[in-house]
Amino acid sequence: MTQDELKRAVGEAAAAYIRPKLDKDSIVGVGTGSTANCFIDALAQDKFLFAGAVASSEATAQRLRDHGIEVFDLNNVGKLDFYIDGADEVNRNLELIKGGGAALTREKIVAAVAREFICIADETKMVERLGKFPLPVEVIPMARSYVARELVKLGGNPVYREGVVTDNGGQILDVYDLFVDSAIGMENRINHITGVITNGLFARRAADVLLLGTQKGVRTLT
Ligand code: A5P
Repeated sequence: MTQDELKRAVGEAAAAYIRPKLDKDSIVGVGTGSTANCFIDALAQDKFLFAGAVASSEATAQRLRDHGIEVFDLNNVGKLDFYIDGADEVNRNLELIKGGGAALTREKIVAAVAREFICIADETKMVERLGKFPLPVEVIPMARSYVARELVKLGGNPVYREGVVTDNGGQILDVYDLFVDSAIGMENRINHITGVITNGLFARRAADVLLLGTQKGVRTLT
């Protein structure tokens, strides 16, 4: 199977995973990226089974609406049973690096609210240790250079993702060469730098379930 076929398989597996638990009041949290898009397309087949969705980006909101799925403001949602999203890297503890698509902050917010976070990824995303994928850090624009200097002190090599403005008006630094021995420790350390909005380590709120697309089928890891 190609990587695209693996993405489609996990998108469909995620829709099948939540289908029996959906009811007419359910609202589903939906992530961003090409794997999340496969999930949205599969979820659309079940659109009459649930009330609607909360989106982690403007792009995802648009795709959901294009499928006729109602998109709710997170502030108006009492409870969110599920959050389904892809990842750039995932380790065996289901800690993640996310933000390759620059949607990390809203993704982290929706993941924080959701009762169950289901990560969907193809097997190329599975790693022993996080950090080969450059860690995205969203910053307040005027703090970008200061934050970059602080990230160098942590051993990283930050590169400004030029031309990208996030849905929140932030900018992105992609940090190469970080040694991530403790994902929670590094997540906290970077978030404490003044001017950082958030970083792409999802360790304090790791995934609860990983649906991993492999050549032998979709594996469920918890
Ligand atoms: C978006 O900001 C990211 O967190 C995505 O979830 C991540 O980059 C995975 O994207 P793909 O599914 O396109 O690989």
